[in-house]
Amino acid sequence: MRTPLVIGNWKMHGTLAEARALASAVRDGLRRPRGVEPVLCPPFTALAAVAEILGNGPIRLGAQNCHDEPSGAHTGEISAAMLVDLGARYVLLGHSERRREMGESDAQINRKVRAALVHGLTPVLCVGETGEERRQGLTFTTVEGQLRAGLADVPADGPAKIVFAYEPVWAIGTGVQATPTQAAEVHGYLRGLLSELTSKEAAQAIRILYGGSVNADNADGLFAEPEVDGALVGGASLNPQAFITIVRKAARAGAAARGE
Ligand code: 13P
Repeated sequence: MRTPLVIGNWKMHGTLAEARALASAVRDGLRRPRGVEPVLCPPFTALAAVAEILGNGPIRLGAQNCHDEPSGAHTGEISAAMLVDLGARYVLLGHSERRREMGESDAQINRKVRAALVHGLTPVLCVGETGEERRQGLTFTTVEGQLRAGLADVPADGPAKIVFAYEPVWAIGTGVQATPTQAAEVHGYLRGLLSELTSKEAAQAIRILYGGSVNADNADGLFAEPEVDGALVGGASLNPQAFITIVRKAARAGAAARGE
């Protein structure tokens, strides 16, 4: 069974004081989360402060990006090694906002995925089609290309150490979520590819999250799909109560799937 994972991607939001307040509220609301793994991805400026607030508790720390080199003359960049040093366990890679705004290529994202793995940081590799690609029937082609390129030259045991996130670009920050059926269809397709690239058994253990306008109201429907192993939450993760509710719903759906 896959333990549901719910990641809050705070994106470029919040002062240090706001980050501290948000992390404290989430920590206090999720003292003993059972059967679910919550993760917070604050902006770089708040990582150290949030790390301190989360301590050795059950909520994990993640970053929103990393560079592919361990160190060097890369002004303004942060390496996977630096993130591990801060206590981060996860790093978001290939987010569509970075693909679009920073022009990140599949090749660059692949280098980052490999760098994260080398440093023991779990990459959360994001894939997703634009609205136009979906209209043209290119959803599977797009996500397959992103997944295969993202995993190029990754060691054989690599995919099992990666979390995947299906984030349709048209659903991010729009209030229009993919329907649970649409999400399950793409997740199933991605898992099929992962079976091919690893083994059926290994692919069954890999977590595939859905992201795009997830909130406390629509989370249940998504988590009811056995192929949806949790969520990558943007806007709603800035509201502690909403994020806590989504985490609890993921835990409940996981327990129901186990027949508890
Ligand atoms: P929203 O939840 O705000 O749509 O953002 C999703 C996302 O991009 C998470 O990485």
